[in-house]
This record gives sequence, structure tokens and C-alpha cells, in this order.
Amino acid sequence: MKRVVTVFACFIFLNVSAQKFEDLALTPPMGWNSWNKFACDVDENLIRETADAMVTSGMKEAGYEYIVIDDCWHGERDSLGFIHPDPDRFPSGMKALADYIHSKGLKFGIYSDAGWQTCGGKPGSRGREYQDAMTYASWGVDYLKYDWCNTEGLKAEGAYLTMRDALYAAGRPVVFSICEWGSDNPWEWASPIGHLWRTTGDIYPCFDCEEDHGTWSSWGVLQILDMRKNIRQYAGPGHWNDPDMMEIGNGMSENEDRAHFSLWAMQAAPLIAGNDLRNMSDQTKAILTNKAVIAIDQDSLGIQGFKYIDEEDFEVWVKPLVNEELAVCFLNRSDQSRELSFDWKNQVMEDPDFEYRYDFSQQKYQLVNVWTGKKAGNTQKTTKLTLSGHDVLMYRLIPVH
Ligand code: GLA
Repeated sequence: MKRVVTVFACFIFLNVSAQKFEDLALTPPMGWNSWNKFACDVDENLIRETADAMVTSGMKEAGYEYIVIDDCWHGERDSLGFIHPDPDRFPSGMKALADYIHSKGLKFGIYSDAGWQTCGGKPGSRGREYQDAMTYASWGVDYLKYDWCNTEGLKAEGAYLTMRDALYAAGRPVVFSICEWGSDNPWEWASPIGHLWRTTGDIYPCFDCEEDHGTWSSWGVLQILDMRKNIRQYAGPGHWNDPDMMEIGNGMSENEDRAHFSLWAMQAAPLIAGNDLRNMSDQTKAILTNKAVIAIDQDSLGIQGFKYIDEEDFEVWVKPLVNEELAVCFLNRSDQSRELSFDWKNQVMEDPDFEYRYDFSQQKYQLVNVWTGKKAGNTQKTTKLTLSGHDVLMYRLIPVH
């Protein structure tokens, strides 16, 4: 009898915690991660200063919440197997750092790996999942990015399920970010396991390039955009396709950064900044904190956009929004400017996966340019303008009744 009661109690406990975890990412998570800019060069000063900058720059106010330390924070496991941060880089310990981040009204994220070592060669969580989850809970971790290096012999779904159950058992609500690069089609199995899953290999700070590392490549914005097709039906509130952390402010031109941010918003992508928040140009700050673009990403319908027009250098992306509104993004993929003439009245935009249909001969919409905030006429007129190279034009369309 005692056993039955215990099993029943555990079931209720897991169920309750599972429900608690469900609400954590009803819109795509927003935050900052150390990897794209700092790689293994992380320490507690950087993380504290980044938390400060997230508040003073206006990013927190714009919706960014998580401060995530990626690879290489780790020291050794102790004789009982508990993981500790590198004592030289994190002398105050992770609990103190989490407390500091929480005191700023932000949330704290950390990184581990399903294999025996992380991609950076630090201790992974394989065989230590429950112990690590307990440790993270005791530190006050709110977000776990869980990588896939050194996982020979493991099956992704099972490995991520084990860590999810360990997080549930530890009891502290944690956003679970699955990072197995889309290798095993996580969109097909990861929705009950994690809140977001990487769909591709690593991003690289260029608009249109492949960076060859010998045995693997990292990818520019356009390459990542092109890499996965027909997976938008798997995304939605609580479970997102993740095309990787952003490279805004890491060396691309202003047009390219603006296009990158717009395209991530059109994909309902997690918005995880990857630049040095302590030394941002006004231009970078303005892009990352554009509230009208962020509102398109964070729209509560949670529908990832679809490609409506796909010409060689020119694309039109459409994202259904609440209240019968929509976002439309014109993308110039080439580095040459082009003349744009778009006759709305001849367009019927039909969502291939969800039941949305926008027939502009039947319904008139007000156009708002989301980057400038200016009203830009309505859909009864043809939109004519010049679109710079590697740039976008992005509108929110509001029905006129
Ligand atoms: C992998 C991930 C990256 C980053 C590094 C850290 O490459 O895809 O996002 O976490 O590992 O080593």
C-alpha cells in the first residue's frame, strides 16, 4: 500500500510540475547568451556587467529576460560527483551570480551537454542528469541549454527526455532549450520535452556565407533561413523552432542586422542576443529594442511565418497575427538595391499550414512600417519604393472595417 501511495504521490508531483513548466515560454524566449561573442571567455564579471547592461540599455524593458552562460563555465566534479563552476572565473559561485541576476528582475540560464563532455571539452551531464538538475535548482537556474556533443550511442529523444524528467524531479521551473542542431528532426518529438529546439548548425556573423571549420560549418543568416523547410507547423506557444542565437551587433552592416532581426521575428524565433551588451552602438541597441518588431515575434498566436513569394533574390514573408492582423516582410537577398512595386489588390496570401487567408481584393488594410513606426497608406494602393541590398521592408497590416 505504502508503495502505491508513493507512486501515486510521485505521479501527482510530476504532473503538477509538468504543468508548471508548460507556461514558461508561451511566446518565444528572449534573452542573451554568451557564446556568439565570447565563446569560452566567460567569467562572473562579464555576466554581472551584462545583466547591468540589459537593464540600462532598455533591453529588459523591451522584453529580454534570460541571461544565459553558455559553454565553459565549468570547473570539476567533486568526489561525490557534484559539478562546480570554474573557481578562477566564478569565484563567488553560481548561487551568488543567480541571486545578482534575479535582483535585477532577470532570469538566469546555464549550459550543459547530453554527452560525457560539452562541445568545449568540459564535463557533460551524461549519467549525472538528476544530480546536475538538482544542483542547477539549488543555484536558482531558470533556463538550461542542453547541447549534443560527445553523445555517441545515445538517441536524442531519450537523452533529452531524461534531462527533462530530471528537471521536473528537481522541481524548479526551467525553460529547456534543446540544442541538437536539427540532426534527429527534433520538431517531430521535442514539443512535449523542451520549449525550443535548434533547427540547424551554428550561426556565423555574416549575412550570406558558409564558414568552413574543416569537419563542420557554421552558417550565415540566409543559409540558416533556407536550411529547414516545412517545419513551421511544429512551432507554437510553449514549443519553438530555434534558428540559433542572434548575431546582431557582431559585425554585419546595419541593413543586414535589421534584416536578420526582422526575419527572426517573422519566424517566431527565440530572440537571444549574442553581442556585447556593455558596448553596443546606438544603432545595434535601436535594432534589438525595436518594440514593433519584437511585438511581431512575440504575437500571442505564436504562428511562424511562411514564404509567400520565393524568387531568386526576392522573398515575401507573411506572419498571421492576432486580431486578424498580419506582418509582411519583403526581403532583398542580393547586395544590390532593387525597385519594388507591389500591387496588394492582386494578392491572395494563403497560409499553407494553418487556416489563414488574406484576400486583398476583399479586405483593405492599413499599412504600418514597423521599422519607422510610420503609417504607410493602405493596401488599395500599390507600394512602390527602392529596397536596399541585404535589407527588408516590414509592415504590420491592420484591417480597416
Ligand atoms: C555548439 C552549440 C553552440 C555553442 C557551442 C558551445 O556548437 O551549437 O551554440 O553552445 O556548442 O561549445
